[in-house]
Amino acid sequence: MRIAAVPIAFAFLLLSCREPSSPVSTPTVDSAAIWRQVFIPPERCQPCHPDHYREWSISMHAYSVVDPMFHAMNEQGQQLTGGRLGQFCIACHSPAATLLGEAPTGIVRGELSPHSRGGVTCVTCHVATEQVPGHGIQRFRLDGVMSGSIIDPVPNDFHGSVYDPRFEQSDVCAGCHDVVNPRGFRVEQTFTEWKNSTYPVRNLTCQACHMKWTYEPAAAGGPIRKRHSHIMEGISVALTDFPGRDTLIPLIQHALNYALNVQWNIPQTAPRSQPLPISIMIFNQTVGHSIPSGTIFERQLWVEFIATNERGDTLYASGLLDPNGDLRTTGSEYVERGLLPPDTALVLFNGIAYRLGRPIDFFFDADAVVNRTIPPHEARYARYVLPTSVLQNASQLEVSVRILFRQFPPFVLRRFGHGSLVERLPIFTVESYRQQIQLTP
Ligand code: HEC
Ligand code: HEC
Ligand code: HEC
Ligand code: HEC
Ligand code: HEC
Repeated sequence: MRIAAVPIAFAFLLLSCREPSSPVSTPTVDSAAIWRQVFIPPERCQPCHPDHYREWSISMHAYSVVDPMFHAMNEQGQQLTGGRLGQFCIACHSPAATLLGEAPTGIVRGELSPHSRGGVTCVTCHVATEQVPGHGIQRFRLDGVMSGSIIDPVPNDFHGSVYDPRFEQSDVCAGCHDVVNPRGFRVEQTFTEWKNSTYPVRNLTCQACHMKWTYEPAAAGGPIRKRHSHIMEGISVALTDFPGRDTLIPLIQHALNYALNVQWNIPQTAPRSQPLPISIMIFNQTVGHSIPSGTIFERQLWVEFIATNERGDTLYASGLLDPNGDLRTTGSEYVERGLLPPDTALVLFNGIAYRLGRPIDFFFDADAVVNRTIPPHEARYARYVLPTSVLQNASQLEVSVRILFRQFPPFVLRRFGHGSLVERLPIFTVESYRQQIQLTP
């Protein structure tokens, strides 16, 4: 049945000039030849679309099948399922590798071809005809025509062009930015979060925030257009040597500067004789989905709270890192070995995956998720109570609070055999605040 899929679509291509397409299938010798023509390597687009190429080549899309964490997790998943995971991961991270049969066991061995090593390449998006939210890209055109958002594209010798209104809609991101696992459970849901928010009715699409535009030619020698940036920064950067890391970090920082609106309800004065409650309201102001979102099991958005006295002694702290760089909670070796106490006041926004009632590392196997993220336009509170025993040691307190964000906890990198990448893991400061509190008797 699968083998037949491509020839049927191919016949369709010969008979019709409307959108020919084919469902994703494992390749035969013939189909691989067709897919090699469809999945034109991004380098071929560069001469005419140099800006799009430059931006895409530093994006996480270009990194999606380079990322060593991707391969390490995929391998773990294949082991856990005795290989039944198959093409599940690779079909999203590099659709071409699946269709060209470059990872028959689901695991990439050796070099990928130029067609597939770009992961989520130009054509992955621009020849896709159907995306089913959570199931990757289901169908691709086979006739080499590029779909996009230019209504009246000027002709060129290399490819046909066609206007497709979906390119101005979030639908073109939906296939991959929800992830439904092989059990049918939605483990990642950036698209669904966006869809359930007020952003769609305001026409604030994924592109509105992630693909800012400028007026300039969209192709060398072409007319002035709204040209959209293809960097699509989120929170992640490449942790290995990969171009563009230094460009990406300030862009991410810039987006995060506006992400949250925080109310620091910290009093100016407080009596030393009573426990001192402090509450911080954290509001998701400009993120079009939850923060964090997507692979929330790996993300850490947390509050670092430090109270010192007038001599600079730390009297109370939460959200500090252990010597391995981990938060003092699940995953910290120092806490697990009893060398440091757990951080019971820790405020951490992330997700925890469960299978049959137990927390699991390999979150793709989940049948339930505890979601501790901040949905769009919602607030969450960080609450601390400083005990009188602490307040006795000060006449004045200085409270220093930071909201920090990183793409991986160090223990996860270590668990997957990539501990050496920890030192390259950026921690972004989303918000920070300091205030003194005068203590009265
Ligand atoms: C020989 C030059 C050339 C090459 C090579 C080339 N393009 Fe184009 N492309 C153009 C021109 C010219 C346009 C029209 C630009 C305009 O009208 O502003 C265009 C338009 C497009 C559009 C917009 C279509 C629309 O209607 O919105 C997309 C998408 C596109 N190209 C993708 C690609 C991709 C992907 C590759 C590589 C696989 C590629 N192009 C290679 C010249 C080229
Ligand atoms: C109103 C603006 C806005 C819209 C709309 C929006 N985003 Fe985002 N997105 C952001 C900001 C700001 C961040 C950085 C904060 C973060 O990582 O959560 C971000 C982060 C992300 C991340 C990284 C999330 C993480 O924590 O790992 C992904 C993936 C993403 N966006 C995809 C999408 C997709 C897909 C859509 C459309 C369904 C979309 N975004 C719509 C603003 C937006
Ligand atoms: C993750 C999906 C994705 C990838 C990968 C991607 N594009 Fe696009 N591209 C889009 C979307 C979506 C638009 C339309 C944005 C809009 O109009 O809001 C677009 C627009 C374009 C346009 C029309 C002009 C413009 O800037 O709006 C061209 C040309 C183009 N892309 C070329 C490329 C090339 C070349 C590559 C690879 C180097 C590439 N794209 C990679 C999604 C993608
Ligand atoms: C073919 C699947 C696919 C499509 C379609 C796709 N993406 Fe992605 N996207 C990915 C993958 C896979 C990654 C993660 C790559 C990695 O980090 O290894 C990613 C990463 C991202 C990130 C960075 C997330 C982070 O943690 O920093 C953003 C932002 C993003 N995509 C936005 C978009 C937008 C906007 C669209 C639609 C225009 C889109 N994507 C379409 C597969 C896709
Ligand atoms: C339906 C498409 C899809 C499937 C299937 C999928 N992923 Fe992803 N993956 C994504 C998207 C989209 C992102 C970016 C999400 C974000 O940043 O929040 C991502 C991000 C990741 C990241 C994080 C990269 C980083 O640096 O932040 C890893 C690792 C990863 N995926 C591994 C896997 C593995 C292993 C599998 C199979 C078990 C898999 N993915 C299956 C779409 C997919």
